[in-house]
Amino acid sequence: MTGTDNGREWALITGASAGIGKVFAQKLAREGMNCILVARRKELLEELAGQLKSHHGVDCRVFPQDLGEFEAPAKILEFVQGEGIEVEVLINNAGFGSHGHFCDLDSEWEMRMIDVNCRALVGVSRAFAPPMRQRGRGSIVHLASVASFQACPYMATYGATKAFVLMFSEALWGELKPHGVHVSALCPGPTESEFFQVARFGAGRSGPFVGAEPTEIVVDRGLAAMRANQPCIVSGFRNWIKTVAVRFFPRWVTTRVAAFLLNPKNFGLEDQSK
Ligand SMILES: NC(=O)c1ccc[n+]([C@@H]2O[C@H](COP(=O)([O-])OP(=O)(O)OC[C@H]3O[C@@H](n4cnc5c(N)ncnc54)[C@H](OP(=O)(O)O)[C@@H]3O)[C@@H](O)[C@H]2O)c1
Repeated sequence: MTGTDNGREWALITGASAGIGKVFAQKLAREGMNCILVARRKELLEELAGQLKSHHGVDCRVFPQDLGEFEAPAKILEFVQGEGIEVEVLINNAGFGSHGHFCDLDSEWEMRMIDVNCRALVGVSRAFAPPMRQRGRGSIVHLASVASFQACPYMATYGATKAFVLMFSEALWGELKPHGVHVSALCPGPTESEFFQVARFGAGRSGPFVGAEPTEIVVDRGLAAMRANQPCIVSGFRNWIKTVAVRFFPRWVTTRVAAFLLNPKNFGLEDQSK
């Protein structure tokens, strides 16, 4: 059962209302996949679904859902099963960050970040990986980050969630490879999207974030890794060099360098600790 009569395969993309997730949906639809779009902003999802249907002739379903909610993965699974859809490609992309002194950041925001970036990602994977294993095919992409490779002062919770995502993804890759299911962690560096705005980076966006990569290029690399069943892909040569270089230094050194680069003062933000 495919949930539609057009006979095409289905992709489920979380965080499809903006940025990287939206481009994943556009590219998968261009390749002829039907799409299930998940995020909170219903109107943006519906607008995108309309575009994908009219431009690419695919079927599209919209499921507005806050992934910070405890029951979110179960609700998504229930919806997909209710539609009679088998998910062939899962893009676990939804996520957000924060920037600033940990002691000054909103506690609720930090806890929800763990819920969305980690808890929901595990729950959605747990919902859709078993049928993929049973069928002996399917693909999962998880959005990790260059932040997955080292501690990130002033983005402490975010960096830790992305380290979790990378380790979780690679472990799943090891488990599911013998069953014909692909799992890839896509690790972008700074990428053009709403991310920095949502994370409340200072207006300056100075230093390390000059020259963010175009979203299209990052997504192309993610899709190539997914097809090749590459467990981890760092987007861009410069970003890759950075993730390799950190292995050659004691961790306290790379943490000090990151603390210097990510210091809110570099982004025009005031130090609230004084
Ligand atoms: N941009 C970068 O520089 C960068 C670098 C490395 C990794 N990443 C990762 O890439 C992924 C996508 O980020 P992006 O750059 O595309 O940022 P973005 O433009 O801010 O998009 C984030 C997406 O996640 C969704 N989302 C956020 N909170 C959600 C929630 N509680 N429930 C459901 N959906 C939620 C948003 O939709 P709604 O607001 O409509 O819910 C939106 O569609 C994230 O996991 C991020 O950590 C980004």
